[in-house]
Amino acid sequence: MSINAILIGLGGRGGGAGKNFLEAAKIAGVEAKIVAVADIFQDKAMGGLQHFGVPADNCFSGFDGFQKALAVPGVNYCILATPPGFRAAHFKACVEAGKHIFTEKPVCVDGVGAQIMYAAAEEAKKKNLKVAAGTQRRHEKGYIETIKRIHDGAIGDVTDLRAYWVNGGPIWHRAAEEAKAGSDLERQIANWYHYIWLCGDHICEQHVHNIDVCNWIMQGHPVKAWGMGARQQLGNKSGEIWDNFAVEFEYANGVRMHSYCGQIKRDFSSVSEAVVGTKGTANPGGNIKPTQGEGWRFREKAIDPYVQEHVDLINAIVNDTPLNEAAQVTDSCVTAIMGREAAYSGSVVEWDDVVKSKFAYAPAELYTNPAGMKWGAFRTLKPPMPGDHDIFKDKVELPTI
Ligand SMILES: NC(=O)c1ccc[n+]([C@@H]2O[C@H](COP(=O)([O-])OP(=O)(O)OC[C@H]3O[C@@H](n4cnc5c(N)ncnc54)[C@H](O)[C@@H]3O)[C@@H](O)[C@H]2O)c1
Repeated sequence: MSINAILIGLGGRGGGAGKNFLEAAKIAGVEAKIVAVADIFQDKAMGGLQHFGVPADNCFSGFDGFQKALAVPGVNYCILATPPGFRAAHFKACVEAGKHIFTEKPVCVDGVGAQIMYAAAEEAKKKNLKVAAGTQRRHEKGYIETIKRIHDGAIGDVTDLRAYWVNGGPIWHRAAEEAKAGSDLERQIANWYHYIWLCGDHICEQHVHNIDVCNWIMQGHPVKAWGMGARQQLGNKSGEIWDNFAVEFEYANGVRMHSYCGQIKRDFSSVSEAVVGTKGTANPGGNIKPTQGEGWRFREKAIDPYVQEHVDLINAIVNDTPLNEAAQVTDSCVTAIMGREAAYSGSVVEWDDVVKSKFAYAPAELYTNPAGMKWGAFRTLKPPMPGDHDIFKDKVELPTI
């Protein structure tokens, strides 16, 4: 069998994922190539020719580029690496077209996107499509071995978790690209990290990795969240997002996850998770410390998880073994959205508030006719202010679906 991939979103991660995919195919011993690419901007789409030798005719651009790439004959593997806002719509289209999918995280930024993802995840299962997600710690041997030990009782019952992505410094801000743009949509997509409908804010875009590890350990998702945060060092830069969050999540059994994320410059910085149990503690990346007896550390050399996730997906396709991470990664994105909305609103937000919500941050067309979207006007929000922001109580006048 040979794998014919398309790559949607040819930026930093899309380019990296394309290379990871080709390396993974070699490791798996499978013939593979990238047959088409799509990027909303034409100059970036032509990177398909430059980086992967894709014929210029198969380097598509515009809002409907993904649809044209999907229609290329023989395609059986999609790599989704646009800004998160487009993911649910593109994922649904790939499932409808019957393709196996590697999807970068996050897969949704609001409840409507989550509903689309859960439905598409089910449909993918029915069609026996394989799905791997870019929460790459799930494919990293150190995490896999450690979490297996936690599940086997190495630290007793889990009583508390911490998730950190703190203070790595400010994220990029593409002010020059925004200044050149011809419409609101072009401006926002060019500087996508700073707009909630495209990015989901950094608790969803970045910190979802650590949240996902905690959900993996708990074999489920939290049921409610409360928290706080602010926009401090972003100051007057264009955009809507905050630059720090501190959220407490509660799982159904009462265990709490303390989550901290920040894109601010401070002395202390950490990207990690920690677990406390009745019989010890663990760093799920590779270290178990029981209160009694010998500790354990992961010491093996393992394949880069960005490559391993494609090896696992290719093997699942070729050997027809089960792999569908779509619902699992959606759960972790919903967790992040629940925490974000709790902090934005200053309220307690519950799971069902998100998954049953009819509120969408995006232009309505994104979820109804993504290929038919046109460059044009779209509102910019004021950065959310607790007290004024509560999308689950219809207190703000924003588009709803
Ligand atoms: N798993 C990880 O560790 C990891 C690391 C980095 C990024 N990511 C994820 O990868 C995604 C992309 O991030 P990035 O850093 O590559 O951003 P980027 O800005 O470098 O690239 C995004 C690309 O998507 C294109 N694009 C935007 N809208 C599009 C559309 N509708 N159709 C087609 N193309 C479109 C942009 O023009 C751009 O070229 C994000 O979801 C991010 O969270 C994951």
